[in-house]
This record gives sequence, C-alpha cells and structure tokens, in this order.
Amino acid sequence: MTLNVRPDWWRGGTIYHAYVRSVHDSDGDGYGDLRGLTERVDYFAWLGISALWMSPIMPSPNRDWGYDVADYCGVHPDLGTLDDLDQLIAAFAEHGIHVVLDLVPNHTSSQHHWFVESRSSRTSPYRDYYVWADAKPDGSAPNNWVDDTGEPAWTWDEVAGQYYLHNFLDAQPDLNWWSPGVHDEFDRIMDFWFDRGVAGFRIDVANGLYKDAELRDNPAHPRAYIYDTEIQGRYGLQHVYNFNRPEVHDVYRHWRHRAEARRIVPLLMGETWVSRVDELAPYYGNDDELQLALNFPFIFAPFEPQALARVVADSVAAFPPTACAVWAGSNHDLPRLATRWAEGDSRKTRLAHTILAALPGAFVVYYGDELGMADSDIPAELHRDPLTAGGLNGQWPRDNARAPMRWNSSVGGGFTTGDPWLPVHPDRAQNVEAEQADSTSVLQLTHALIRLRADHLSDTATRYTEVELTGQRWVFDSGPLRVTANFSETAVDLELIGTPVLSSRTIAASTTERLDPWEARIERRTTT
Ligand code: GLC
Repeated sequence: MTLNVRPDWWRGGTIYHAYVRSVHDSDGDGYGDLRGLTERVDYFAWLGISALWMSPIMPSPNRDWGYDVADYCGVHPDLGTLDDLDQLIAAFAEHGIHVVLDLVPNHTSSQHHWFVESRSSRTSPYRDYYVWADAKPDGSAPNNWVDDTGEPAWTWDEVAGQYYLHNFLDAQPDLNWWSPGVHDEFDRIMDFWFDRGVAGFRIDVANGLYKDAELRDNPAHPRAYIYDTEIQGRYGLQHVYNFNRPEVHDVYRHWRHRAEARRIVPLLMGETWVSRVDELAPYYGNDDELQLALNFPFIFAPFEPQALARVVADSVAAFPPTACAVWAGSNHDLPRLATRWAEGDSRKTRLAHTILAALPGAFVVYYGDELGMADSDIPAELHRDPLTAGGLNGQWPRDNARAPMRWNSSVGGGFTTGDPWLPVHPDRAQNVEAEQADSTSVLQLTHALIRLRADHLSDTATRYTEVELTGQRWVFDSGPLRVTANFSETAVDLELIGTPVLSSRTIAASTTERLDPWEARIERRTTT
C-alpha cells in the first residue's frame, strides 16, 4: 500500500460520500458495488479527493439499506466480499485516497445474533446489550419516546416478555451503551477494520448511543416539526432523554485515545445530528473526541448569506481552536443541495459549491453533487426506502437523493448493464463523460475547487475571518483566500485586493471588478 499519510489529512481535504449502491455496478445486478467503485478509481483520483466514505457495506437484511447491521465484520454479498474491499483499499491507496467506512453503533438489525440471543432469555449474556424494559402496570410502553417515524419507540417482544427500544425502525433495536460488553465489542470491531487498512469511520447517529438511565419521559415541544432547523422538536417532543446524553462523550474520548495510539491516526467523523452549534461543539471535546462533527445547523440553514455566515462564525467561535470544521450541503437522508438550496438554478449550485469548498476544514461531496445533480422525482411505486416509503409521517422520500449516478448519456447511464435498483438519474446530459469534456461544467468547477483547497487550506493555522456581510454580499477570508459571494439577482461591485484565482461562473481567474448575480469569486490575498 502506498498511502502517504499526512496527519489530519482531512484538513483542507475532500471526503467523497459514496452511497455505494448508486455509484457503479460492476456485475449487472443493478446494485452499485465495491468492484464498481474500484473500476472508477481513476475518476476519483482525477477529481482529487482525499477520502472515499462508503455508506454501510456490512451484511444486513436491508430494512434501512445497511443501517441495520447483521454482522459488523463482513461485507454484504450484493456489494462484494472482504477481498473486494482489500482490493479497493489498495487501489485507492495507490492514489493517496483514504477509505472511510460507515459504522452504526447506536443500533443493530433485529437479525443480528446479539439481538436473537438477547431476546431469547433474561439470563443470556447478550441480554443487557439492548435496552429492555418492563411494561407499565397498564401494559403500555415504558415511556413516551417516539422513533424516527413518529411511532412509539418501544415494541413489545413476546419471547423476551419485555419491551425493547428502537429510535429508528422496529427492525433496528437500540444497543445499550450502559453495558460494558457493548463497549468491548466496538473496540474489537474498529480494530478489525483498522487492521485491514480502513482510514476511519463516519459514526452513524453519533449523538445517540446512551439513553437516560431512568428512561424518563421526554418533555413536550411547543411545535411539532419534521425536518427543520429545530430538529429536536420533531413530533412534538424534545428528544433530550434518548439523544445527546452526556455519557456519550466518554465513548469518543476513549475511541480517540485508541485512534491516537495507532501509527496512522484514523478519522472519527460523527453524524452529530443536533439543532444548534452549542450542542455540536461538545462533540469535539477539548479536541480529544471526534475529529469531525457533521454540521447540521449549517446544512439546515436557508441559502442566505446572513444565515450561513452566522452558523460559520458561531461554529468557529464555539469549536476548540485546534479543531477542524466540516462542511456539507447534501447527504443520503436529505434533498440534494441543487434542489434544496439552489432550487434547480445552476448559478446557485455553483455558488454553494464554491462556498463549501472555500471554507477552512473538511469538505464533503455527496456522490453526483459534483455534476450538479438535483433530486430525482422517483414515482412512489418504485421507492425502496422503508423508512420514508409513501411519505411516512410527512417525511421527504430519501430515495429521490439516492438515484444512480450517470457516467454517460446511455440508457443505463454507464451505471449498470442490468436493471438499476432505483431509476438512473433522468438528466441524461448531466454525466461524467460530458462534464469532463466541458471546461466550464460543474464537475470541472468542483475539480478546480478541490485542487485549490489542497493547495491552500491544509494548514492547521488556516482560519476563517468574516470581512463583510452586507445585504446579499458575503466576504470572508479563509487562510490566504479571499472569497466574495453575491447572493442576489443584481450585479455588485468587487474591489480586487489580491491575485484573482477563480470565478464560480467561469472557473477562470477573472479580473473584472463586477460580480455577476449569484457569482462567487476567489482571490489569493497578497497581504495578510
Ligand atoms: C442515520 C443515517 C440514516 C439512517 C439512520 C438510522 O441518520 O444517516 O440513513 O436511516 O441513521 O440508522
């Protein structure tokens, strides 16, 4: 393996988020797979990414497409084998690209042997691996917690004679992190993957894990949201006793400590789905917990300079000075940024990419976003996601952001020779082949931005400084770079202060002292 590792490679780096089933299918079964990714390694090397983060690859009954793990130390047969993973890791390492897996420590599949044994008897050694509780005297559930679908988070189990907790589907029982056995299992699981050359984990539901020891009722929330900036108000409850518990920080300090002891320090990136920056910052600890905590307040901010800049400034102020922020605009659970933020306007998509990539820290690109991919409108009868099928409780159908990627304009999009598991993205013109050939495409812009980050933002000392925030104009410094963004339909003046580097519109270095509507410009400052 030729991976030449800089510590903190994620600083100024770009993490490519591959929803594995939708990137490239090597064997014509309609599902993207590990070999498919390896076959495309030259593309990822050209794009310039630092890491490939793969959605869960472990064996799973796929009630939640791998987020219901049945075996933490294997590969799902639809996606390949452990050998295929070894080959993928080696092939990406040749190009200096790290491989990051998705780890799901909050819950397992109900088919995991731990759960099967746990429910079988009160004396099973696995009994305390899960959150079991007796019914209330009237037979009802132990408390008022609801799961991600808005239904009671407790299911009665006849065999066990108790209720079990699931913060997601009933097929995803929550693990009990009060059990020392669970801690040991995850130490072993992480070592297993690190020993295979995996460079880190994205930690699913990283703000979950611990639940209140007394299982107290959650207090009511004055308003019932589905997805909004105030995420904790979902379904009319404040989810204070089943999420975001203080004990979870011990887990991350322990994992970080173990990570630091390895020759090549792995990345721990949390899916820290919290509403506010002050709830997010503690996941960095004193820079001794997670190295990256995904910033949902930023993702949920409206596409307006005041709102985005406020989250950035608050984050930078709240995080420990040595910590590294991480910026993303899309993921597999939400509408894509080209739809949610840009509303289909490619000028806005390009502006969003430029801002995300120019901020100091790590930058996450969700597969297809580099092409400017918007959501698909997949007919309800073709949906494959049980959690949001049929618009369950008003949730947005996640399948629309999971359409297979287009590599060319053919019927199968170069994604598969068979029947794709979800319809290939309908925009035939928006594909890798065409956009690589077009010097002004969104793909070429993303490519240029990724190189620019690597060249200028990888220093630990790289800082964000707000320079100006007036009306729809946001000017900030990011290390040596000056970024000026125009969030409006009106052209605005720009006073050049350094060496022009890039325009979000043309990709070229522009010397005009005028910003077009929805244009961002990057200069390199000549004075600091
Ligand atoms: C995370 C994942 C999501 C999954 C859920 C339950 O939020 O991103 O896709 O459904 O956890 O595992």
